[in-house]
Amino acid sequence: MAARVDALYIFLLIVTGMMALLVFTLLIFFAARYRHRPGVRAEQVEGSTALEITWSTIPFLVFMAIFAWGAVVFFKERTPPADATEVYVVAKQWMWKLEHAEGQREINELHVPVGRDVKLIMTSQDVIHSFYIPAFRIKQDVLPGRYTVEWFRATKPGVYHLFCAEYCGTQHSGMVGSIVVLEPAQYQAWMNSGSTGPLSASGEKVFAELGCSTCHRSDMPGRGPNLHGVFGKPVQLADGRTVTADENYLRESILDPGSKRVKGFQPVMPTFQGLVSEEQVNALVAYIKSISEAKAGAGTSARLGVAVEKRPPDKKDEPRAMQARAQASGNQVQVQRP
Ligand code: CUA
Repeated sequence: MAARVDALYIFLLIVTGMMALLVFTLLIFFAARYRHRPGVRAEQVEGSTALEITWSTIPFLVFMAIFAWGAVVFFKERTPPADATEVYVVAKQWMWKLEHAEGQREINELHVPVGRDVKLIMTSQDVIHSFYIPAFRIKQDVLPGRYTVEWFRATKPGVYHLFCAEYCGTQHSGMVGSIVVLEPAQYQAWMNSGSTGPLSASGEKVFAELGCSTCHRSDMPGRGPNLHGVFGKPVQLADGRTVTADENYLRESILDPGSKRVKGFQPVMPTFQGLVSEEQVNALVAYIKSISEAKAGAGTSARLGVAVEKRPPDKKDEPRAMQARAQASGNQVQVQRP
């Protein structure tokens, strides 16, 4: 992405630089050429249609080219690949909390393997922050009350700056961190040290603890919709609208269930606003994604997480290697339904 952004930026610099040069050269040239001379009177010059059309059309075409080029880069940067590894980001005054779909938690540091697409699903616990990695040319505001997304693929191992790029209070300038890009083998070693289990598994636990499973049943019709397979699919709402069940929809439905009620269900679900932390909402979203086979935006890792968790405990070390292999080959593992 950096090369694309740079190419466009350099093009803009060259175009504007050439225009500035042209303007100043003509300015100096005309000032000398048409300077005041004693006894010479200025003549009135009428306009030229050909000239005016030319100097309108050429800049118009240049601007349209910049617009089209910029739009291509923008959409590329705004569209995470469907099979990207997912990392949940929670911003707060004044730190970054990161949680991998595989369960690793980090603060102000994000470890990623080189060459893999990484999608960041971000929200804030308090005010607006902005997740900015200058070396990757990506920056995205992180807002309270909803998810925003950005993605990257690191191409070179190393340590890169992470900044908060939105003034968020006294310690804003201290809200910095680093992105540590590792070789795949190193990354695997890092992953193997100290995981608390996949995020979707913590989500499954929260799901059970909060009693969600009493209404959202998969074995029989419940008071709430069956959530298996719901992620990434269109949902018919009671008010006639159809929305896509993406991360933001799931999040909103947990915190404000009345806002987008599913057709055919009563408004019986209480709000969980204030009852669950941002981390728990993330875990719930990861869990619901893991029980959906929908490919759209769902990371394989989260689905694998559940499958892995259901394995017997004596094979504890094997799942991770499996997970890595499956991820490397892009295989999908079917989730066992309870
Ligand atoms: Cu967070 Cu500035």
